Amino acid sequence: MKHLLKLLDLTTEEITDILNLADQLKYELKHGIEHKLLAGKTLGMIFQKASTRTRVSFEVGMYQLGGLPIFLSASDMQIGRGEPVEDTSRVLSRYLNGIMIRTFEQEEVESLAKYGNIPIINGLTDFCHPCQILADLMTIREVKGRLEGLKMCYIGDGNNMMNSLIVGCLKMGMAVSVACPEGYDPDQRVLDFAKEYDCFQLCRSPKEAVKDADVVITDVWASMGQEGEAEKRREAFAGYQINAELMALAHPDAMVQHCLPAHRGEEITAEVFEQHADEIFQEAENRLHAQKAVLVKLLGDQQ
Ligand code: CP
Ligand code: NVA
Repeated sequence: MKHLLKLLDLTTEEITDILNLADQLKYELKHGIEHKLLAGKTLGMIFQKASTRTRVSFEVGMYQLGGLPIFLSASDMQIGRGEPVEDTSRVLSRYLNGIMIRTFEQEEVESLAKYGNIPIINGLTDFCHPCQILADLMTIREVKGRLEGLKMCYIGDGNNMMNSLIVGCLKMGMAVSVACPEGYDPDQRVLDFAKEYDCFQLCRSPKEAVKDADVVITDVWASMGQEGEAEKRREAFAGYQINAELMALAHPDAMVQHCLPAHRGEEITAEVFEQHADEIFQEAENRLHAQKAVLVKLLGDQQ
Protein backbone atom coordinates (compact mmCIF):
# COMPACT_ATOMS: atom_id res chain seq x y z
CA MET A 1 0.00 0.00 0.00
CA LYS A 2 1.63 3.25 -1.21
CA HIS A 3 -1.25 5.71 -0.83
CA LEU A 4 -4.76 5.92 0.59
CA LEU A 5 -6.66 7.40 -2.35
CA LYS A 6 -9.88 5.34 -2.16
CA LEU A 7 -10.98 2.07 -0.57
CA LEU A 8 -11.48 0.53 -4.01
CA ASP A 9 -7.65 0.30 -4.17
CA LEU A 10 -7.27 -1.64 -0.89
CA THR A 11 -7.51 -5.38 -0.28
CA THR A 12 -9.46 -6.90 2.61
CA GLU A 13 -6.10 -7.83 4.18
CA GLU A 14 -4.81 -4.26 3.96
CA ILE A 15 -7.96 -2.91 5.62
CA THR A 16 -7.75 -5.58 8.34
CA ASP A 17 -4.07 -4.70 8.96
CA ILE A 18 -4.95 -1.02 9.39
CA LEU A 19 -7.80 -1.83 11.79
CA ASN A 20 -5.58 -4.14 13.86
CA LEU A 21 -2.81 -1.54 14.09
CA ALA A 22 -5.41 1.12 14.99
CA ASP A 23 -6.65 -1.05 17.87
CA GLN A 24 -3.06 -1.51 19.06
CA LEU A 25 -2.22 2.21 18.88
CA LYS A 26 -5.45 3.05 20.72
CA TYR A 27 -4.62 0.55 23.47
CA GLU A 28 -1.07 1.89 23.80
CA LEU A 29 -2.24 5.50 23.94
CA LYS A 30 -4.81 4.69 26.64
CA HIS A 31 -2.10 2.87 28.65
CA GLY A 32 0.51 5.63 28.36
CA ILE A 33 2.78 3.59 26.09
CA GLU A 34 4.69 5.95 23.76
CA HIS A 35 4.82 5.09 20.09
CA LYS A 36 6.95 7.69 18.31
CA LEU A 37 6.95 5.72 15.08
CA LEU A 38 7.14 8.82 12.87
CA ALA A 39 9.90 10.78 14.63
CA GLY A 40 11.36 13.29 12.17
CA LYS A 41 8.59 12.80 9.59
CA THR A 42 6.46 15.61 8.17
CA LEU A 43 2.89 15.57 6.86
CA GLY A 44 1.48 18.42 4.76
CA MET A 45 -2.28 18.80 5.10
CA ILE A 46 -3.99 20.64 2.22
CA PHE A 47 -7.57 21.75 2.88
CA GLN A 48 -9.81 23.06 0.09
CA LYS A 49 -12.87 22.55 2.34
CA ALA A 50 -13.67 23.12 6.00
CA SER A 51 -12.88 20.49 8.65
CA THR A 52 -13.00 19.94 12.39
CA ARG A 53 -12.35 16.22 12.92
CA THR A 54 -10.02 15.50 10.01
CA ARG A 55 -7.75 18.44 10.67
CA VAL A 56 -7.48 18.03 14.44
CA SER A 57 -7.18 14.23 14.41
CA PHE A 58 -4.41 14.28 11.78
CA GLU A 59 -2.52 17.05 13.60
CA VAL A 60 -2.77 15.37 16.99
CA GLY A 61 -2.05 11.96 15.45
CA MET A 62 1.20 13.17 13.84
CA TYR A 63 2.22 14.83 17.12
CA GLN A 64 1.55 11.66 19.12
CA LEU A 65 3.63 9.68 16.62
CA GLY A 66 6.56 12.10 17.01
CA GLY A 67 6.14 13.77 13.61
CA LEU A 68 5.27 17.26 12.40
CA PRO A 69 1.92 18.13 10.79
CA ILE A 70 1.84 21.25 8.61
CA PHE A 71 -1.60 22.77 7.97
CA LEU A 72 -1.85 24.17 4.43
CA SER A 73 -4.97 26.15 3.69
CA ALA A 74 -5.46 25.97 -0.07
CA SER A 75 -6.64 29.57 -0.18
CA ASP A 76 -3.21 30.65 1.14
CA MET A 77 -1.27 28.47 -1.30
CA GLN A 78 -0.47 29.03 -4.96
CA ILE A 79 -2.68 26.02 -5.75
CA GLY A 80 -5.59 28.28 -4.75
CA ARG A 81 -4.41 30.75 -7.48
CA GLY A 82 -4.23 28.10 -10.15
CA GLU A 83 -0.75 26.56 -9.80
CA PRO A 84 -1.22 23.08 -11.31
CA VAL A 85 -1.55 20.17 -8.90
CA GLU A 86 1.17 18.35 -10.89
CA ASP A 87 3.68 21.10 -10.01
CA THR A 88 2.51 21.44 -6.41
CA SER A 89 2.98 17.72 -5.98
CA ARG A 90 6.50 17.65 -7.38
CA VAL A 91 7.52 20.58 -5.15
CA LEU A 92 5.95 19.27 -1.94
CA SER A 93 7.45 15.82 -2.55
CA ARG A 94 10.84 17.42 -2.06
CA TYR A 95 10.00 18.82 1.38
CA LEU A 96 7.53 16.43 2.98
CA ASN A 97 7.20 12.73 3.82
CA GLY A 98 3.47 12.61 3.07
CA ILE A 99 0.44 14.70 2.08
CA MET A 100 -3.14 14.57 3.29
CA ILE A 101 -5.55 16.42 1.04
CA ARG A 102 -9.22 17.36 1.33
CA THR A 103 -10.63 18.65 -1.92
CA PHE A 104 -13.48 18.39 -4.45
CA GLU A 105 -12.27 16.31 -7.38
CA GLN A 106 -11.00 12.78 -6.83
CA GLU A 107 -8.82 13.34 -9.91
CA GLU A 108 -6.83 15.99 -8.03
CA VAL A 109 -5.91 13.47 -5.34
CA GLU A 110 -4.99 10.87 -7.96
CA SER A 111 -2.82 13.48 -9.75
CA LEU A 112 -0.94 14.31 -6.57
CA ALA A 113 -0.11 10.62 -6.23
CA LYS A 114 0.85 10.31 -9.89
CA TYR A 115 3.21 13.28 -10.06
CA GLY A 116 4.75 13.20 -6.61
CA ASN A 117 6.78 10.44 -4.99
CA ILE A 118 5.46 10.53 -1.43
CA PRO A 119 2.34 8.88 0.06
CA ILE A 120 -0.94 10.72 -0.51
CA ILE A 121 -3.89 10.35 1.86
CA ASN A 122 -7.41 11.30 0.81
CA GLY A 123 -8.98 13.35 3.60
CA LEU A 124 -12.31 13.56 1.68
CA THR A 125 -13.28 14.27 -1.90
CA ASP A 126 -16.70 14.49 -3.51
CA PHE A 127 -16.23 10.82 -4.45
CA CYS A 128 -15.09 9.26 -1.19
CA HIS A 129 -14.00 9.55 2.43
CA PRO A 130 -11.75 6.54 3.12
CA CYS A 131 -10.33 7.76 6.46
CA GLN A 132 -13.84 8.11 7.86
CA ILE A 133 -14.86 4.61 6.80
CA LEU A 134 -11.76 3.08 8.41
CA ALA A 135 -12.85 4.73 11.68
CA ASP A 136 -16.42 3.50 11.15
CA LEU A 137 -15.27 -0.08 10.56
CA MET A 138 -13.04 0.13 13.63
CA THR A 139 -15.98 1.34 15.74
CA ILE A 140 -18.40 -1.28 14.44
CA ARG A 141 -15.84 -3.99 15.20
CA GLU A 142 -15.32 -2.60 18.72
CA VAL A 143 -19.05 -2.44 19.46
CA LYS A 144 -20.15 -5.65 17.72
CA GLY A 145 -16.97 -7.71 18.09
CA ARG A 146 -16.84 -8.54 14.37
CA LEU A 147 -17.63 -7.21 10.90
CA GLU A 148 -18.20 -10.30 8.80
CA GLY A 149 -21.84 -11.30 8.54
CA LEU A 150 -23.25 -8.01 9.88
CA LYS A 151 -25.69 -5.92 7.85
CA MET A 152 -24.92 -2.22 7.30
CA CYS A 153 -27.75 0.00 6.09
CA TYR A 154 -27.15 3.54 4.83
CA ILE A 155 -30.10 5.88 4.34
CA GLY A 156 -29.68 9.15 2.44
CA ASP A 157 -27.54 10.75 -0.23
CA GLY A 158 -25.38 8.69 -2.59
CA ASN A 159 -22.42 10.87 -1.65
CA ASN A 160 -18.80 10.33 -0.60
CA MET A 161 -19.93 8.57 2.59
CA MET A 162 -22.33 6.19 0.88
CA ASN A 163 -19.76 5.43 -1.86
CA SER A 164 -17.04 4.56 0.64
CA LEU A 165 -19.25 2.64 3.04
CA ILE A 166 -20.53 0.39 0.27
CA VAL A 167 -16.97 -0.48 -0.77
CA GLY A 168 -15.49 -0.76 2.73
CA CYS A 169 -18.31 -2.82 4.23
CA LEU A 170 -18.56 -5.21 1.26
CA LYS A 171 -14.79 -5.74 1.30
CA MET A 172 -15.02 -6.64 5.00
CA GLY A 173 -17.68 -9.30 4.45
CA MET A 174 -20.71 -7.30 5.53
CA ALA A 175 -24.10 -7.23 3.82
CA VAL A 176 -24.95 -3.74 2.56
CA SER A 177 -28.32 -2.14 1.84
CA VAL A 178 -28.69 1.49 0.87
CA ALA A 179 -31.77 3.63 0.33
CA CYS A 180 -31.72 6.90 -1.62
CA PRO A 181 -34.22 8.81 -3.75
CA GLU A 182 -33.99 8.53 -7.51
CA GLY A 183 -31.35 10.89 -8.87
CA TYR A 184 -29.18 10.57 -5.74
CA ASP A 185 -27.66 7.15 -6.34
CA PRO A 186 -24.09 6.25 -5.45
CA ASP A 187 -21.34 6.68 -8.05
CA GLN A 188 -21.44 4.31 -11.04
CA ARG A 189 -17.89 3.04 -10.26
CA VAL A 190 -19.18 1.94 -6.85
CA LEU A 191 -22.29 0.32 -8.30
CA ASP A 192 -20.08 -1.58 -10.77
CA PHE A 193 -18.00 -2.85 -7.85
CA ALA A 194 -21.04 -3.74 -5.74
CA LYS A 195 -22.89 -5.65 -8.43
CA GLU A 196 -20.47 -8.54 -7.94
CA TYR A 197 -21.86 -9.00 -4.42
CA ASP A 198 -25.18 -10.85 -3.83
CA CYS A 199 -25.40 -9.22 -0.39
CA PHE A 200 -25.70 -5.68 -1.87
CA GLN A 201 -29.09 -4.05 -2.23
CA LEU A 202 -30.01 -0.58 -3.57
CA CYS A 203 -33.55 0.40 -2.53
CA ARG A 204 -35.80 3.41 -2.86
CA SER A 205 -37.63 2.48 0.36
CA PRO A 206 -35.77 3.20 3.63
CA LYS A 207 -38.10 0.75 5.40
CA GLU A 208 -37.07 -2.04 3.10
CA ALA A 209 -33.36 -1.20 3.38
CA VAL A 210 -33.25 -0.94 7.17
CA LYS A 211 -34.89 -4.32 7.84
CA ASP A 212 -32.82 -6.28 10.40
CA ALA A 213 -29.79 -3.98 9.97
CA ASP A 214 -27.06 -4.25 12.63
CA VAL A 215 -25.64 -0.83 11.80
CA VAL A 216 -27.65 2.14 10.53
CA ILE A 217 -25.72 5.06 9.02
CA THR A 218 -26.58 8.41 7.50
CA ASP A 219 -24.93 11.70 6.56
CA VAL A 220 -26.00 15.22 5.61
CA TRP A 221 -28.32 15.69 2.65
CA ALA A 222 -26.25 18.59 1.25
CA SER A 223 -22.49 18.04 1.33
CA MET A 224 -19.79 20.69 1.25
CA GLY A 225 -20.06 22.46 -2.10
CA GLN A 226 -23.80 21.71 -2.41
CA GLU A 227 -25.04 24.41 -0.04
CA GLY A 228 -26.99 26.07 -2.87
CA GLU A 229 -29.06 22.90 -3.35
CA ALA A 230 -30.00 22.56 0.32
CA GLU A 231 -33.68 23.47 -0.11
CA LYS A 232 -34.19 21.24 -3.15
CA ARG A 233 -32.45 18.40 -1.33
CA ARG A 234 -34.57 18.81 1.81
CA GLU A 235 -37.60 18.11 -0.39
CA ALA A 236 -35.97 15.20 -2.23
CA PHE A 237 -34.90 13.51 1.01
CA ALA A 238 -38.16 13.92 2.95
CA GLY A 239 -38.95 10.38 4.14
CA TYR A 240 -35.25 9.43 4.31
CA GLN A 241 -34.76 10.49 7.92
CA ILE A 242 -33.42 8.11 10.56
CA ASN A 243 -36.05 8.27 13.27
CA ALA A 244 -37.54 5.99 15.94
CA GLU A 245 -40.09 4.53 13.54
CA LEU A 246 -37.37 3.47 11.11
CA MET A 247 -35.05 2.22 13.86
CA ALA A 248 -37.86 -0.05 15.10
CA LEU A 249 -37.44 -2.05 11.88
CA ALA A 250 -33.69 -2.56 12.35
CA HIS A 251 -32.18 -5.26 14.57
CA PRO A 252 -33.15 -4.52 18.21
CA ASP A 253 -29.44 -4.00 19.11
CA ALA A 254 -28.68 -1.92 16.02
CA MET A 255 -26.03 0.74 16.40
CA VAL A 256 -26.03 4.12 14.64
CA GLN A 257 -23.08 5.89 13.04
CA HIS A 258 -22.82 9.44 11.68
CA CYS A 259 -19.56 10.93 10.40
CA LEU A 260 -20.61 14.40 11.65
CA PRO A 261 -21.41 17.21 11.43
CA ALA A 262 -25.07 16.18 11.88
CA HIS A 263 -28.22 18.15 11.16
CA ARG A 264 -30.70 17.09 13.80
CA GLY A 265 -34.25 17.17 12.45
CA GLU A 266 -33.03 16.55 8.89
CA GLU A 267 -31.20 13.28 8.21
CA ILE A 268 -31.54 12.11 11.85
CA THR A 269 -33.83 13.05 14.73
CA ALA A 270 -32.32 14.50 17.89
CA GLU A 271 -33.86 11.57 19.77
CA VAL A 272 -32.09 8.84 17.77
CA PHE A 273 -28.87 10.87 17.70
CA GLU A 274 -28.78 11.21 21.48
CA GLN A 275 -29.73 7.57 22.06
CA HIS A 276 -26.68 6.58 20.03
CA ALA A 277 -24.38 9.48 20.96
CA ASP A 278 -21.82 7.21 22.66
CA GLU A 279 -21.32 5.18 19.48
CA ILE A 280 -21.25 8.30 17.31
CA PHE A 281 -18.58 10.05 19.39
CA GLN A 282 -16.59 6.80 19.71
CA GLU A 283 -16.62 6.84 15.89
CA ALA A 284 -15.34 10.44 15.93
CA GLU A 285 -12.58 9.49 18.39
CA ASN A 286 -11.55 6.56 16.25
CA ARG A 287 -10.66 8.91 13.40
CA LEU A 288 -7.51 9.62 15.45
CA HIS A 289 -6.54 5.98 15.97
CA ALA A 290 -7.43 4.75 12.48
CA GLN A 291 -5.53 7.61 10.80
CA LYS A 292 -2.49 7.05 13.00
CA ALA A 293 -2.46 3.48 11.72
CA VAL A 294 -2.65 4.74 8.13
CA LEU A 295 0.18 7.21 8.79
CA VAL A 296 2.40 4.51 10.30
CA LYS A 297 1.68 2.15 7.40
CA LEU A 298 2.42 4.80 4.77
CA LEU A 299 5.11 6.99 6.34
CA GLY A 300 6.70 4.61 8.83
CA ASP A 301 10.00 2.81 8.27
CA GLN A 302 9.07 -0.44 10.01
CA GLN A 303 5.68 -1.37 8.55
N1 CP B 1 -16.34 13.62 9.52
C1 CP B 1 -15.45 14.54 9.10
O1 CP B 1 -14.68 14.32 8.17
O2 CP B 1 -15.47 15.69 9.82
P1 CP B 1 -14.75 17.06 9.44
O3 CP B 1 -15.43 17.60 8.20
O4 CP B 1 -14.97 17.93 10.63
O5 CP B 1 -13.29 16.79 9.18
N1 NVA C 1 -20.79 14.25 2.91
C1 NVA C 1 -20.22 15.26 3.78
C2 NVA C 1 -19.25 14.61 4.73
C3 NVA C 1 -18.61 15.57 5.69
C4 NVA C 1 -17.60 14.91 6.59
C5 NVA C 1 -19.54 16.32 2.95
O1 NVA C 1 -18.86 15.97 1.97
O2 NVA C 1 -19.68 17.50 3.26
